Amino acid sequence: MNPEEFPRIEACFSPSDFHKYEEGFEIVVVIDVLRATSAICTAIENGVKGIIPVSTVKEARDYLNKGYVAAAERDGKIVEGFTLGNSPYSYMDGKLKGKTLVLTTTNGTKAIKIAEHKKTVVIGSLNNLDAITAWIVDRGENTLLLASGWKDKFNLEDTICAGAIIDGVLQSKTFRSNEDCSIAARFLSKSARENQFALLKSSSHRRRLQKLDLNTDVKYCLTPNNLSAIPILKDGILMSQENVDKVVKAENSGKLDGEKMVET
Ligand code: MLT
Repeated sequence: MNPEEFPRIEACFSPSDFHKYEEGFEIVVVIDVLRATSAICTAIENGVKGIIPVSTVKEARDYLNKGYVAAAERDGKIVEGFTLGNSPYSYMDGKLKGKTLVLTTTNGTKAIKIAEHKKTVVIGSLNNLDAITAWIVDRGENTLLLASGWKDKFNLEDTICAGAIIDGVLQSKTFRSNEDCSIAARFLSKSARENQFALLKSSSHRRRLQKLDLNTDVKYCLTPNNLSAIPILKDGILMSQENVDKVVKAENSGKLDGEKMVET
């Protein structure tokens, strides 16, 4: 194939820029390294059946009042009235295995909601770096990496993660990448790698989380390739490919009732 016809892999630095980049991209990978997408990947890898991302604390509270397991984070802290936030460590102990839960976070879930009209929304992080890279190459379609940033601002960790994914995907020699954002993300990712993530250590959200005594979370979220889960948004719920396949099978055979995804 002529390289000019290869599918594209590009980065978008913030949800507020999404409308400028989204045209021509039906696959969006949402990235929020600290900590939403790292927590989502961890939860799905540890057997959580589904995660319903919601934009507002009110929506999460409404679900909570209906008996759902609901998690809410704002500005790095668990919101009053909730017992779960988005520390990846909350999703490791198997207590939530088989459950579908609701999650709202400051930036990550907002980015997911912004992209939800696309054909496919998947979740990326440093934790599932190689897995998401291989998934993108395998799909072979135009893919936009959406950094969640911080309150619509650029952030280092999501950009560095996007750059690492682009680098990996381009190594396949079956994709092309044109945008300056993508070139900048790759430069940042390379210099972070050479500095053993020193660049990430000085990021503003890392400092914010440090003040909240969340260093252990940061260390975990900056660990590449300790997970292989690729959460996929299906009918508003993030789930594993295996569960997507089950839902599709049930839909096709008209037996969705027997395999309900939304369970509290
Ligand atoms: C977010 O979605 O903004 C983050 O996950 C914030 C956090 O680290 O708690």
